Amino acid sequence: MDKLQISGGVALRGEIAISGAKNAALPLLCAALLTREPVTFTNVPHLNDIGTMLKLLAQMGVKVTREATHDAGNGMGKVPGGSSEAVQGKQGAGDTVTLDASALDNPVAPYELVKTMRAAILVLGPLVARTGEAKVSLPGGCAIGARPVDQHIKGLAAMGAEIAVEHGYVHAKASRLKGARIFTDMVTVTGTENLMMAACLAEGETVIENAAREPEVVDLATCLNAMGARVSGAGGDVIRIQGVPALHGATHRVMPDRIETGTYLCAAAATGGDVRLTGTSSAYLDALIDKLMDSGCEVAAEREAIRLKAPARLNAVSLRTAPYPAFPTDMQAQFMAINTVAEGTAVIRETIFENRFMHAVELIRLGADIKIDGNTAFVTGVARLEGANVMATDLRASASLVIAGLVAQGDTVIERIYHLDRGYEALDQKLTALGARVVRLK
Ligand code: UD1
Repeated sequence: MDKLQISGGVALRGEIAISGAKNAALPLLCAALLTREPVTFTNVPHLNDIGTMLKLLAQMGVKVTREATHDAGNGMGKVPGGSSEAVQGKQGAGDTVTLDASALDNPVAPYELVKTMRAAILVLGPLVARTGEAKVSLPGGCAIGARPVDQHIKGLAAMGAEIAVEHGYVHAKASRLKGARIFTDMVTVTGTENLMMAACLAEGETVIENAAREPEVVDLATCLNAMGARVSGAGGDVIRIQGVPALHGATHRVMPDRIETGTYLCAAAATGGDVRLTGTSSAYLDALIDKLMDSGCEVAAEREAIRLKAPARLNAVSLRTAPYPAFPTDMQAQFMAINTVAEGTAVIRETIFENRFMHAVELIRLGADIKIDGNTAFVTGVARLEGANVMATDLRASASLVIAGLVAQGDTVIERIYHLDRGYEALDQKLTALGARVVRLK
């Protein structure tokens, strides 16, 4: 199993391109189930979770064509001798994926695939809407908490689907879904996306209240509308969908990954670096950028790029995670890592997932001073971290260990980096392009 060895102590400097967003691409790929016509996506990141989703769609009968463009310099900084524009174009390119669901014949998502990637639940809504039936394995527990899917089920039931939960599978049937008013008990991102997709082919109007406002929900709505859907209000907490009898093909570019962007900003901040990230936007990152500025960083937003310059020592900054536009839970671990070496004590409250402080024990192994009390972590900055062997427990937890490893003196070896490969395209190459000393060990 691959490991990542980081020899810390180098300030990150230079420029890299940000990839397409994993959390936008996953629901977008599922949207292709809603039509008989081919749908093409560009800027699709080359990640394990995307591979898993494509495998899942293929075994349902979807014809998948994937043109890999990631090797053409995606994320590798400037190519010597290349013109800046040409390089930019290649860097942000990502993969092009075309999905043709005209011969969809097996509306089943088996446990083997769903257990490795909870987002597989996103096929449920589109499958019932398009084929009248879906059988999707329950995701079960995962490292960062129980994460039930009751709201997905409740919403589909409100739209008239008959639902049985048996032998670990959600089995949903409906001859045609009917528009409904749905109020979700909590803000759920994939829940909102699942119900929004299903409602596109329902009869009449669906209103989703308490909807997630995440930019990835907006990206999905934009794509659905390009496919002929009638979705309005995405980005706000009430989304209205007028059902249509059928959707058609479209081409859609996946939005930039705001969590990948935020992770590199934190890595640069923690190491006292100076980086420019291209193919991304500060528009989705206000809460994080605010905190980075509080910590003493200079952040400059350009039209499709962000530049961050860090001071020699950061100030500790407290935060509380909450649904968008507040501070994202997916950036909590990375910000904890930068607080471990900041001046002062930060209080970090996690309100979205229980059990999302597993990185803290590993950060402590590197010399961090962290105390946990329920959903609150107290992080007191230390003068230096020291390299050690640590274990990645989930995707964003492992990103925090990478940041700590970049800061620590000596070598840090991170085990189980398959977690990182789920969500960070070409992580080792991108870090190397920024001057970090990173090696993947077999
Ligand atoms: C999505 C993101 C994930 C991010 C999370 C919160 C994708 C593919 N993943 O996950 O990276 O960390 O949003 O921003 O976009 N809940 C229920 N019942 C439900 C649904 C959710 O109780 O039916 C709870 C969850 O346990 C959690 C909270 O609601 O406590 C929010 O979860 P949700 O927004 O659904 O997370 P995901 O969509 O799975």
